[in-house]
Amino acid sequence: MTVTENIQNDTTNGTANGTANGKADDTANGTANGTIPDISLALNPSDVESVPGLLKDIASTGNSFVAQEDRASRLQLLAQARQLVRALETPRETMLKNCWGEPGAYCAIAACMTIGVFPELAKDDGSPKKVSDLAKTLNCDEKLLGRLMRHLGTMAVIKETGPNEYKPTNFSTSLTIPVIGDGFPALAGGGMAAVYKFPAWLQKYGFKNPESTTEGPYQYAYDTHHNLFGYLMAHPPLGMQFNHHMGGYRQGRPSWMDPGFFPVEERLAAGADTAEGAALLVDLGGGHGHDINEFRRKHPDAPGRLILQDLPDVLAQITELDGKIERMGHDFLTEQPVKGARAYYMHSVLHDWSDETCLKILGRVKAAMRPGYSKVLINENVIPDAGAGWEATALDMMVMTLLSAEERTEKHWRSLVGRAGLKLVKIWSVENGSESLIECELP
Ligand SMILES: C[S@@+](CC[C@H](N)C(=O)[O-])C[C@H]1O[C@@H](n2cnc3c(N)ncnc32)[C@H](O)[C@@H]1O
Repeated sequence: MTVTENIQNDTTNGTANGTANGKADDTANGTANGTIPDISLALNPSDVESVPGLLKDIASTGNSFVAQEDRASRLQLLAQARQLVRALETPRETMLKNCWGEPGAYCAIAACMTIGVFPELAKDDGSPKKVSDLAKTLNCDEKLLGRLMRHLGTMAVIKETGPNEYKPTNFSTSLTIPVIGDGFPALAGGGMAAVYKFPAWLQKYGFKNPESTTEGPYQYAYDTHHNLFGYLMAHPPLGMQFNHHMGGYRQGRPSWMDPGFFPVEERLAAGADTAEGAALLVDLGGGHGHDINEFRRKHPDAPGRLILQDLPDVLAQITELDGKIERMGHDFLTEQPVKGARAYYMHSVLHDWSDETCLKILGRVKAAMRPGYSKVLINENVIPDAGAGWEATALDMMVMTLLSAEERTEKHWRSLVGRAGLKLVKIWSVENGSESLIECELP
């Protein structure tokens, strides 16, 4: 049956969207201006004209990828494949994928993480397993598990191998790695409500860009006085899981510590004070120390102390840290105890806060800096004026709803750094969509 026949049938039944003519009823949903398009728009592929061109692009990029297996052509091919899916999907299908498919998969993944499904599924080299056997081993309701796994099968999170039988995929097995899997329960338990309740918050507070951290979307959704970090820490194991999630975010992306990004030897190690007690790098809000550990591993000969700072409860969760790295409980809104370090480093910290709070954090750092020697290194997204990458804009939605904060453009960073009384020396970047390193000094 064609799309037109479908519409005609609905019209005959008088059931198409509650109207007799197959058109949406614009008085019923409160938009009486007659601008609602005909339903056929939603039932045909979104952009069928682009399909031939996209297929050609995909073939050509696909050849480059097969020949080189390089990051750039992989990312380009992925973007083109997404465009093709979107062009072929009807708006109705996209709507259901967004409203049901993805949230349903999120729900099933988080539930299966809690039940312990993925490690069990990965056992015996990932051989196919019956839901009934898994349910017995995991002491879980068989019907429930079957329903969760059935949806995960249709969403390609796991692979169906027969009736009520599945095997893992690389993705489902990767979910057994805490830095990959733990974001699901962390955000299910202490994040997503702020996303889903955002429209209601906007309605209540008058459609303004969120800036309040006492009456923001997060406080509204969780009925709490805490900010995201306080709430997660007050609800174990969410804090620990969230910090693992942060460890996953940074994986597989260009790192400023690698050759071809920021010249670590020339701009940091060279000229660093070698006197006893001199600090090379202070990682503020460094979480579990993923970055400073990486620095230690990649630049083992750089002279000076390496200091990881975060709230004491966060530092107490750390299970693995290079012996040379010092842990120091510190609230970055208070006086910086390490004076005159070569560099004060912050990764994914300032994007969690409003400009006003960032100015306080930077003010504390500035007061500890040694003129002509110390640097501030800010590792964050610098969103271009046009052509932003989806990971950066997605993170912007997260920090907007969870923290009343934002990802910043270059103009915004320059203004913020200037207002903090610092000089922006250079923004080091290697590709659009990955974080940059913003190098600042005292003027
Ligand atoms: C988004 S996480 C980034 C962690 C780490 N820099 C990374 O990139 O993986 C922000 C960090 O800021 C820490 N934090 C929040 N408020 C803080 C405060 N007042 N003082 C110090 N650290 C704080 C959190 O505990 C968390 O580890």
